[in-house]
Amino acid sequence: MINTRKDNAYWDPSRKGFVTNYPNFLHWKTLSATDMADNRPLNVYLHTPYCIQHCAYCYYKTINLRGTNKAQRIDQYVDALCREIELASEYYQLRNRPVVSVYFGGGTPSLLNEAQLQRVLETVHRYLNLSDQTELTVEAEPVTITQSKADLLQGLGVNRVSMGVQSFDDGIIKRSNRLDDEKKVMKAIEIVKTMGVVINIDLMSGLAEETQATWEYSVRRAIESGVESITVYKTELYTNTPYYKEVRNKTIDLPDDDQELIFMNHAMTELTEAGYKPWSFFTFTQCGQHQHQYATGTFLGEDVYSFGTSAFGKLGDYLFQNTNDEQKYMALLAEGELPVTRGHRLTCIDAMIREIVLGMKLVRFDLRRFQSRYGFRLEKLCADTLADLVEHGFITMSDDEIQLTNKGILYGDYTGKSVAKVLMDME
Ligand SMILES: C[S@@+](CC[C@H](N)C(=O)[O-])C[C@H]1O[C@@H](n2cnc3c(N)ncnc32)[C@H](O)[C@@H]1O
Ligand code: SF4
Repeated sequence: MINTRKDNAYWDPSRKGFVTNYPNFLHWKTLSATDMADNRPLNVYLHTPYCIQHCAYCYYKTINLRGTNKAQRIDQYVDALCREIELASEYYQLRNRPVVSVYFGGGTPSLLNEAQLQRVLETVHRYLNLSDQTELTVEAEPVTITQSKADLLQGLGVNRVSMGVQSFDDGIIKRSNRLDDEKKVMKAIEIVKTMGVVINIDLMSGLAEETQATWEYSVRRAIESGVESITVYKTELYTNTPYYKEVRNKTIDLPDDDQELIFMNHAMTELTEAGYKPWSFFTFTQCGQHQHQYATGTFLGEDVYSFGTSAFGKLGDYLFQNTNDEQKYMALLAEGELPVTRGHRLTCIDAMIREIVLGMKLVRFDLRRFQSRYGFRLEKLCADTLADLVEHGFITMSDDEIQLTNKGILYGDYTGKSVAKVLMDME
């Protein structure tokens, strides 16, 4: 467009060559009207804020329904959730878009009774475009699982169940204020196995009173349970948790970062030996199969329409979040209004940074995909940082991808944040 050749053409202005478009038509390829229709894949998140306890470490803004009339309160919420699905589907024409994954998370969705679960999932099937290929995950707390609930979920197309286990040590489970124990957890896993679905269990490394022996026991029992997928979260200490108060009052001690790193390293070694492979830096699956589509889609920058109080998602260039006020959420929907209250429009550079930090969670980062989406070679722009990361053993690189090493996996988001910083510094 502007000539910057060293032969001084830039300083020898000309009025010739009117610019009609960019890129020039020479670069255009065959395209049909249907190619432009918005039928890109869609991921769906459904949120329930309710739990039957407040776990001492948990940072989610949940509503503890223990000792209350659960059924009535959840019925009202389910009404609103179903109304939101109907309204948003119509307003954004979501039905045109193939749903690749649905994640019903919380809180504790498995706390809903059978009629409530059925209403929510039937509404999803009715107003959104699911197929036999759609991954449909429900998050569950083991103590809330029954055989009849499992049978119902299977009949409603659920093909993945993700259970919060956290620890197999009864003392640690109790200390975390959870209602499970090892026996109940193993029973719930056996029930869910009868559904013939992919099972994920969450463990947390670094809970209060964790020792090397209790951690080794938890990892061993997780492997022995035979589930397809094991997620290991590093316990994060948030100010809104009972843990935080207890740490401040010195009534509990949490393992320090070095100890937690040893725990994670142990989990990685044992899981690898047992045939599990990491497909994200915190989830290990048998032979690397059974990848979680919902997480993959989210990390690769696909759209996620999110329903429910405080649920946050992405639609096109927009990140958005619903009100986190349960009463306001229900009142808005009763008025026929969508409950979106805040958001952010992604600039081009936001989108790139987001894709780097989230995409790097998937252990392998596809440089050619990035280039085809954004038009430049990330490895050229970030050459120095990438060379440092290679030198310090966090990554290996080929022409086509960046691959986290075991050290890179152990240090989680560090690689993604380091690469993203190069782009942030350009802002
Ligand atoms: C919504 S919960 C899972 C389902 C169900 N509510 C349960 O707890 O059984 C999602 C997961 O977040 C993780 N989590 C909660 N608080 C955390 C924290 N402070 N640090 C790291 N992970 C946390 C736990 O592993 C938990 O299983
Ligand atoms: S960990 Fe699960 S059950 Fe416990 S408070 Fe958080 S969301 Fe609820």
